[in-house]
Amino acid sequence: MKSNISLIIALILTLITTSCETQKEDINKKIKSPNQDSELALLMREMYDEAIMNKKNITNNKPLKINLDHEKILNAIATEPEKAASSEFKAFANSYLQSIEKLKYSNSHQKKEYFENVVNNCMACHQTLCPGPLVRIKKLQ
Ligand code: HEC
Repeated sequence: MKSNISLIIALILTLITTSCETQKEDINKKIKSPNQDSELALLMREMYDEAIMNKKNITNNKPLKINLDHEKILNAIATEPEKAASSEFKAFANSYLQSIEKLKYSNSHQKKEYFENVVNNCMACHQTLCPGPLVRIKKLQ
């Protein structure tokens, strides 16, 4: 009984935490390849977690922690590989990487502004290529 409940919870979580597509397409995809989260999707989750942590660090006047290899965004395999291969994706990704570099080397007065700039870069790419997670990303603002 207990394991049934965890199974249902896991299933619900899988359905909520999918990426760009509309709900219906997501479900179709999950049936085709269950539990296959792409490299890019996993990286995105780590980026999200790191950003949430750094939002807290900025609020609490603590040092930033930027330890992820953000460059991976350029080569990670996506659920829809053709999306990440587009020149549009590459342009957004490079702009994002620049904003991360700026944040890394920002002084305490610049941090807040540069962090907002990073979040704007997350949103710019998502508005164009992957609107699904925007609701979550807005929590970083
Ligand atoms: C260059 C474009 C681009 C940038 C910049 C970008 N994303 Fe993404 N993001 C994507 C794409 C494309 C996917 C879909 C990945 C897949 O399914 O393979 C995605 C997926 C996600 C997901 C869903 C992952 C899942 O569980 O399936 C989240 C959350 C996310 N991004 C958050 C962020 C955050 C936070 C940032 C900034 C720190 C960011 N993204 C920056 C393109 C981008």
